[in-house]
Amino acid sequence: MEPPQKPAFLMCPPDYYGIEYEINPWMSRRRESIPEVAQRQWHALYETLTGPVGAVVHLLEPVRGLPDMVFTANAGLVWGRAFIGSNFRFAERQLEASHYEAWFASRSYTVVHLPGEHPFEGAGDILALGETLFAGYQFRSDIRSHTAVADLLGLEVLSLQLVDEWFYHLDTCFCPLGPEAVIYYPAAFDAYALKVIEAGVADLIAVSPASARRFACNAIVIGRHVVLNTGCDDLVEELVARGYTVHAVELGEFIKAGGAAKCLTLEVNT
Ligand code: ARG
Repeated sequence: MEPPQKPAFLMCPPDYYGIEYEINPWMSRRRESIPEVAQRQWHALYETLTGPVGAVVHLLEPVRGLPDMVFTANAGLVWGRAFIGSNFRFAERQLEASHYEAWFASRSYTVVHLPGEHPFEGAGDILALGETLFAGYQFRSDIRSHTAVADLLGLEVLSLQLVDEWFYHLDTCFCPLGPEAVIYYPAAFDAYALKVIEAGVADLIAVSPASARRFACNAIVIGRHVVLNTGCDDLVEELVARGYTVHAVELGEFIKAGGAAKCLTLEVNT
């Protein structure tokens, strides 16, 4: 019998990471990242995933001039052996796309493009709960991209409008935990999105504003392990009470760019 496959992620080392432009409210060129600290934090995340969590991490070659390439969650959406490449909203990130596509093509994924030019930022804005996709729109992905993804994959997509520019990608305010539970930050959604979430998710765990701003919802969930930024105490307490093993990794250098644990990874199937 084949041994069960280890969970696998794609990450990109922060060799050329920095705050070189401002495309979300977290980013300020006056608050540069400190390269050695960023390297240390990124490696701590890598070591956590490959060590105690027991995952495989594939590395993407970083590219000079593409500082946000560390945020591989935005590469695209992985579904089985298909990879739907992102259409980045901002010119600053558009040159990343061909590097991601080349990696997936070289691993014999079917690389797919969405029809039309609608912005779509991959696993940053689409998260699956079982066979249902929850998809965020407003600041980055366009709602029309959701329909295109649904048609391509033959899945149901529930579109959620984001209303707080500090929580501009769905993965900054929504995190599936197991097959029925979701961690979320209610204030990031409009009233209709909240109704959709309440109707579609049996078990909702709301985080406090303080934890949300520490990127509590930007957690990586691997079975009974959860990896997230430090300082999300209310959520950690709740997760421990539910029997999860929590790994808190300081990722402050990446919060300067508007991302944390989950944004720095993309789950893949090889
Ligand atoms: N600076 C990056 C951007 O604004 C951060 C991306 C964070 N990624 C995420 N999946 N939330 O595009």
